[in-house]
Amino acid sequence: MKTFFTADLHLGHEGVLAMSARPFASIEEHDDAIIEGINRVVLPSDRLFILGDFCWHGAESYAKRINCKNLHLIWGNHDRPNYGKWFKTAEDVAEIKLPQSSFGQEAAEIKVFLSHYPHAYWPASHYGSLHLYGHLHGEQEETLAALFPGRRAMDVGVDQAAKLYSGVYRPFMDDEIIDLLLRLPGHDPVEWYKGRQEARNKGKAQEVAKNLARQFYDNRQYEAQR
Ligand SMILES: [Fe+2]
Repeated sequence: MKTFFTADLHLGHEGVLAMSARPFASIEEHDDAIIEGINRVVLPSDRLFILGDFCWHGAESYAKRINCKNLHLIWGNHDRPNYGKWFKTAEDVAEIKLPQSSFGQEAAEIKVFLSHYPHAYWPASHYGSLHLYGHLHGEQEETLAALFPGRRAMDVGVDQAAKLYSGVYRPFMDDEIIDLLLRLPGHDPVEWYKGRQEARNKGKAQEVAKNLARQFYDNRQYEAQR
């Protein structure tokens, strides 16, 4: 079983054609391309996480057109509560683990934090965990990379896929995510926290020494006045 990730499908959402400059003549053509992009690579036995903004309406018919039935939804701002019944799970955020089969030797498994919205820090980011999100339609990756250099996080929406892969609107596969993100060092190294703790301990030692010195001085004053 492989795990796939995608976001911001916006099936049936006519406005997304102009909003995200998706090059389709009609919303029907758009929907066919997005669903075909999924069914071409995601097998019925695989697992697919949709990180929000599944469709405008008609969740049942769209979910049925996807061959994979191991579907998981992370709620986006365009999703409605009744979409949940077409997914095995539907959550605000999720933490999953992926095997590191294609790249990297840091651990046998790597944690991945999923949400519709991007986070600056996330569970275990200081231990190198990964973060996948949508919502931004591939338009803020440069900004976020400049703010948090080396971050192990990325937009997995279909617009970002189309940017990276010559206009192909398709999901990302687990090995691909690991390969892309584990090459980066992470922006939240655990060493920073250790350094801060050491500095704090040093500060405490200085405080103790200062109090002792004050005590010696007070004692001497007391003795001198006797
Ligand atoms: Fe969206």
